[in-house]
Amino acid sequence: MAARGRFISLEGGEGVGKSTQVRALAAALRERGLEVVETREPGGSEGAEKIRELLLTGDEDRWGAQAEALLFAAARADHVDKVIRPAIEAGKWVLSDRFVDSSLAYQGGARGLGTEAVRAINAFGIKDWFPDRTLVLALAEGGARARARDNQESDRIGGRPEGYHQKVDLAFRQIAAEEAARVRIVDASGEPGEVTERLLGEIADLLP
Ligand code: TYD
Repeated sequence: MAARGRFISLEGGEGVGKSTQVRALAAALRERGLEVVETREPGGSEGAEKIRELLLTGDEDRWGAQAEALLFAAARADHVDKVIRPAIEAGKWVLSDRFVDSSLAYQGGARGLGTEAVRAINAFGIKDWFPDRTLVLALAEGGARARARDNQESDRIGGRPEGYHQKVDLAFRQIAAEEAARVRIVDASGEPGEVTERLLGEIADLLP
């Protein structure tokens, strides 16, 4: 049987260059001879991509806070079952653009459900498949400016007001403080290559 792979999630607010870094980190891991599955949330499996559409389109008030959190959790349960768990069991590395910490920050923190409630509804679907490491890309300042730039194509959630996104940032920092072994804040400023090196530094202990 193949040795178990690793599970890394990348997190952060809007406009911090997360998708660029997911691609760059995947490439860097492949250069080290690892087999890498790149995936994303909401989505990542066929069923979860259907739920993504429900979550990200339509009016801002399409879903109440609880329904929204449960839909994210349902999508995640399918993503874990169909994509993440099988890949890790086959010895692959999984790199996910967002995972449960987005729900903790956006629904738990910013939308006010509380991180404990959101953690509880997610634990049911995630079971033991929490990330080995979670890297939160963050800009010390200028987050609002980056979001404004990003806002032309924002979706149901990305388009929420600036105060919402400030609460998201704060929640990510609180989660990182509470779960320092798993969750690391990584400075997203500077050249993309430098940021990728910082990310690699935060997973150095997991590399074979
Ligand atoms: P996406 O297009 O993937 O945006 P981004 O490039 O910012 O990752 O849209 C995902 C949106 O959904 C984003 O605004 C964050 C939000 N989200 C939640 O609110 N809760 C969650 O659990 C997840 C995974 C995402």
